[in-house]
Amino acid sequence: MSEARYWCNIIPRIMKLRISVTSFITLFVSFSVLSLSAGAGREGLRAPALEREFYIGAAVDMKPFHEDEEYRNTLAEEFNVIVAENAFKFENIHPERGRYDFADADALVAFASEHAMKLRGHTLVWHRQLPAWITGGEFTREEAIEILRDHIETVAGRYRGRIWAWDVVNEAVEANEDGFRRDSFWYRTIGPEYVQMAFEMARNADPDAILYYNDFDNEGMNSRSNAVYRLLSDLTRRGAPVDGVGWQMHVPAGFRIKKQHRENARRLGALGLELSITELDVRIRMPAAPDAYAKQAATYREVTGFCLSEPACRSLVTWGFTDRHSWIPAFFPGEGDALLFDYDLQPKPAYEAVRGALRASLLGRPQIREARIEGRDLLIAGGAFDRKSAVFLDWRRQKASVAKAQGNTMLLIRGAAARIPPGQTVSLYVRSGDGKLSPEFRFTRTGDGADDGNTTK
Ligand code: XIL
Repeated sequence: MSEARYWCNIIPRIMKLRISVTSFITLFVSFSVLSLSAGAGREGLRAPALEREFYIGAAVDMKPFHEDEEYRNTLAEEFNVIVAENAFKFENIHPERGRYDFADADALVAFASEHAMKLRGHTLVWHRQLPAWITGGEFTREEAIEILRDHIETVAGRYRGRIWAWDVVNEAVEANEDGFRRDSFWYRTIGPEYVQMAFEMARNADPDAILYYNDFDNEGMNSRSNAVYRLLSDLTRRGAPVDGVGWQMHVPAGFRIKKQHRENARRLGALGLELSITELDVRIRMPAAPDAYAKQAATYREVTGFCLSEPACRSLVTWGFTDRHSWIPAFFPGEGDALLFDYDLQPKPAYEAVRGALRASLLGRPQIREARIEGRDLLIAGGAFDRKSAVFLDWRRQKASVAKAQGNTMLLIRGAAARIPPGQTVSLYVRSGDGKLSPEFRFTRTGDGADDGNTTK
């Protein structure tokens, strides 16, 4: 069929989509006034994040958390996610065989609940920060599996229902033949199967937590991210309960988002995995050059904008929030000042950049109002669509054609009906040419006849 004839056929069908005037109006008022809540009259990051159904967070250092009220207030006002920098790690929470210490972890769980924040659990299985009773012990494979099971059952079980997402396994890959890191107690005593075992144990212990695999230097397209991709493809193919992938992103100022990052996000999304940036910090070489803080702000803006425009990207967490308490100076000698607030807890240009990116993501977003199966195709009606709009179906990017009907732009995904069996709910997003992402729209196909397409939201 010629292109012109195709559209002659399709336009009358598009017109059948019922578009109410009121929903059009809501398009243009999608941005509501945000409250001024944070310290010193600041708006805070969590208000625009919430508006966007997005999660913005920071890692918590227990010392200032216990000692400094301003530190706690800033956390509560600015963020809707927290993660412990160290408190949930094996050496702290399980320091001796048969002895657990939950004091700090309990305090964070209580704080998160008091301030309506999500809590990320970091981390159940890692080769670092293990106590001496593990690293210095002699264990058979069976004993090590039992230690792993006891640890995961006890920790994830205790906080069942209260941890939003667990970094179940941290930093398990290396670019070698089987793709696994060798210098790990878990690999050496159990073998590569420990990864899948850990995910299964975590799912049993806390069925509602989102289960993540987390790693560093895995945001671009490189040997590590390829190894991560292979591991996750394998795990998902075998039906292992893994839901998400974390990109730590400890990067230097000047770091830019490139095509490879989108490509990597897309291949992970195609595995059905969500994505979070889990440990972002943007370090500066010290002493700082005059333009260093502006350069840092540009990196923060770009990374935040990236996550906000990728449908699979659920949250962005920075590894600390004040330069007064950051791991960077100790681990990257000669570098520092990597976070959003300065030594005195005052917001830096980087903070304004993140807030700006959050607010910008709320303005002029595309909106999906209705979706419908028409024959073999999926038709999407809404607003602020443009010729360069991209459509995502369950995070997989689709080829979309654009149709105009009565001045409204519709999107058409040819052949998509075959990918949406009757009764199944799928998630749809539209991203406009200028990188604005619509809210999620859930679409349920209710029957299998040509006219049975339906929408829910
Ligand atoms: C770091 C903490 O920030 C430090 O306080 C600690 O001494 C070492 O670990 N990747 C991770 C984090 O997954 O757990 C690490 O945190 C930073 C790198």
